[in-house]
Amino acid sequence: MENRQVNIGIIGLGTVGTGVARILLEQKELLKTRSSLTYNLKSISDLDWNRDRNLDLSQVYCTTNAHEILDDPDINIVVETIGGYEPAFSFISKALKNRKHVVTANKALIATKGMELYKIAQENDVDLLFEASVGGGIPIIKGLREGLVANRFESIYGILNGTTNYILTKMHREGLDFADALKEAQRKGFAEANPTLDISGGDAAHKLAILGSIASNSFIPFEKIYVEGITGITKLDMSFAQSFGLTIKLLAIYRRYEDGVDLRVHPTLISNTHLLAAVSNELNAIFVKGDFVGNTMFYGPGAGERPTASAIVSDIVDLSRDLLLKEGEKYSNRAISLTQNVRLIPIEDIQSRFYLRFMTADKPGVLSMISGVLAEYGISISSMVQLESHEKDNYVPIVLLTHEALERSMEQALQKILKFDFVREDYLRLRIFE
Ligand code: HSE
Repeated sequence: MENRQVNIGIIGLGTVGTGVARILLEQKELLKTRSSLTYNLKSISDLDWNRDRNLDLSQVYCTTNAHEILDDPDINIVVETIGGYEPAFSFISKALKNRKHVVTANKALIATKGMELYKIAQENDVDLLFEASVGGGIPIIKGLREGLVANRFESIYGILNGTTNYILTKMHREGLDFADALKEAQRKGFAEANPTLDISGGDAAHKLAILGSIASNSFIPFEKIYVEGITGITKLDMSFAQSFGLTIKLLAIYRRYEDGVDLRVHPTLISNTHLLAAVSNELNAIFVKGDFVGNTMFYGPGAGERPTASAIVSDIVDLSRDLLLKEGEKYSNRAISLTQNVRLIPIEDIQSRFYLRFMTADKPGVLSMISGVLAEYGISISSMVQLESHEKDNYVPIVLLTHEALERSMEQALQKILKFDFVREDYLRLRIFE
């Protein structure tokens, strides 16, 4: 490599790509001081060159044709920031086959096609890094891969989606209902282009699949993860939660057991005194428990131009060390090793405490019928609240908190309870995290 210069091409000049270009242009001296390399933003491809990004690109080759970057023998590192499955997958594959390192923030792609892409990278002696795919600017992947490399991971759990955390914070603090809080999150620009991916829990599940794969050294496809979103949560549930000293957060959870790992994303009740309860608005936070280190917490901005670009540039600098090696030397295994085949424990076999909210007719015997079914399935109630009805149809909310119970038993009990003609369909079942 001449003059210890790294040539970089960016494919996709949207929010994140713009941030990467900005860092490479504005922090050039800082990056050189820190790594003894010059980072040269050689070319950028994007389909839309009419938008003003407030960047001076006079020294950068700008094109609408990504293949000009992928086929350029001078480019050492390709940054993919277009997102989505195609053409991102084809572009990344081609870059790797052309023996260029690739950096991406594309969580959906890594969580589904990661294994295929790692294989292509390995076959071509290059790396594919994706620090920015989880937790935006939080160095969680490097944290697991490097800082905590000496540990087996017993649990990793936290808030991995800023949009839903923003919505739940607004519902909790300002008493907004779900629809109004979502509108506000969209106005602030946190939500994905299609907010369904955020509110259904899919975005958090993509990120959990990535963390779980790293933690278990096995590729865990996101489709295998149990996912529930936050659309069923009402103002009423928020205020019930508060009355119990709890709050509701969308948690992504990874836990290792002797016989496998448990991965799930669902709205979860946590104590108001838990550190995660204080993680508000669009911020992300992840707890990691390693067998040697114990508990650690990673906290910070999980999205946005500058934090995400900060993570991408950390991968660029990391990969650039390879380019200093002599012919034949390889700085190997930086990327994740997914050689194991861990067992995923089905959700039915997991034990939790539960929050159950039913809307029931206000008449004698209702409570005993419900608690009777729970008892039949071995589920013990720990607290109960019923409010007076303010609804015209005279339905009342009843909330039950249970002791630990098996998911399978809870599911069976719920099916039976929902058959009662005095129970409305709009119930909510949440898990309590301890
Ligand atoms: N929509 C995502 C979020 C953006 O709300 O966290 C970052 O991945």
